[in-house]
Amino acid sequence: MQDVFVKDIEKYLGQEVRLKGWVRNIRHSGKLLFIILRDGTGEIQTVAFQPDLGEKAFETAKHLTLESSVIICGIPNLHPKQEGVYELQVTQVQPLQIADEYPIGKKEHGPDFLLSNRHLWIRSQKQWAILRIRHTVYYAICNYLNEHNFIRFDSPILTPNACEGTTTLFELDYFDEGKAYLSQSGQLYLETGIMSFGRVYDFGPVFRAERSKTRKHLTEFWMMDAEAAFVEHDENMQIQEDLIRYVIRTVLSECALELQILERNTESLKAADAPFKRMTHYEAVELLRQKGSDITHSKDLGAQDEVLLTEDSEVPVFVERWPKEIKAFYMKRDPLNPNLVLGDDLIAPEGFGELIGGSQREDDYELLLSRMQAENMPIDDYQWFLDLRKYGSVPHSGFGVGLERLVAWLSGTPHIRETIPFPRMIYRIYP
Ligand code: 4AD
Ligand code: MG
Repeated sequence: MQDVFVKDIEKYLGQEVRLKGWVRNIRHSGKLLFIILRDGTGEIQTVAFQPDLGEKAFETAKHLTLESSVIICGIPNLHPKQEGVYELQVTQVQPLQIADEYPIGKKEHGPDFLLSNRHLWIRSQKQWAILRIRHTVYYAICNYLNEHNFIRFDSPILTPNACEGTTTLFELDYFDEGKAYLSQSGQLYLETGIMSFGRVYDFGPVFRAERSKTRKHLTEFWMMDAEAAFVEHDENMQIQEDLIRYVIRTVLSECALELQILERNTESLKAADAPFKRMTHYEAVELLRQKGSDITHSKDLGAQDEVLLTEDSEVPVFVERWPKEIKAFYMKRDPLNPNLVLGDDLIAPEGFGELIGGSQREDDYELLLSRMQAENMPIDDYQWFLDLRKYGSVPHSGFGVGLERLVAWLSGTPHIRETIPFPRMIYRIYP
């Protein structure tokens, strides 16, 4: 008898097969026992008829509980009433372990309870759907980059310097070398990589000791940093747009079931696969002030500003050319206005906030050095980074995508904590 996965069941109609998994649901009525079996690839309704199983086996099967592990053999058929749905006519049931009373039930649980039981919560249907979308987004990003001449170039997680300012650094003692920090972004290392490979990316966990307790911040999250030589600001945004639109299309085509489980409005995702809007930070502030925000021209966007800015937009919005004071030291000054830098933030529609931060990089040695000195940065620690401006410097740009933010938007998940298997937040390290 063949071992099969639920997702492949349609290929085996009428043949006896073996499925291995867990009991999602069980009920019986008279001589019939209905078990919903999930095996990681999907779920299927199974129907056992007492005379087919024999009395003893039927009684044993009746004692299966929610989340018990089990092997079920049977013959898949089309569901008599639901189109495109399959049902297994059971021939054998072999319990592996009868689960204790499962703590996650049908009643509503609070977020703390669910987070403390995250090791079990990931089995529930919605969490399964979100994390499968995460998987698809991850591979879609890699596929896009691989097809566009980007080479994977893994950046270190233990680093001697800060990429995104010193206020959110996780610090640790590093033997006799003094302090080391957990990476906030691999960007600075990627800038070395492009001088060897032209275009590179990394994809991995990054860390920020964020004091903010919001639905968009984690202290450990996954970032894809991409960097490209000879790419300037406008092309940098175009690459970001093309990448995100490719990911949207991939999720729509590969995650139809997951999106349906999550009741995600797919019309709004389809509408987002169209040219993105671009506005300068100056224009964004003007627009926001008209909408009642108290933001000023020297300020970053607040969470509410991000919502207001995109409320009338079906597509993500780029906010570009930022005041240099509120952006990182490595961003290239705007040749049209020395008070601005060629940075861009990509803001998702539907209130999901900033998906990407990117910029053209300062490629002039003296300008970069003076900017770093002005910010009192420890120049010695960054000598290697400054070297890149001495040995064949070229115009270059890059960006970082927050994986969980992107998954939250695409899956329509309001809180980022559900978009990663084990979220790390200021008040959460268990399990
Ligand atoms: O805008 P950020 O800080 O940009 C950088 O780190 C650049 N060095 C990237 C680069 O140019 N290679 O972070 C990039 C993205 C944000 O747009 C957001 O999506 C996500 O990372 N992000 C977070 N996601 C979850 N929790 C947090 N605390 C996050 N901080 C940033
Ligand atoms: Mg940012």
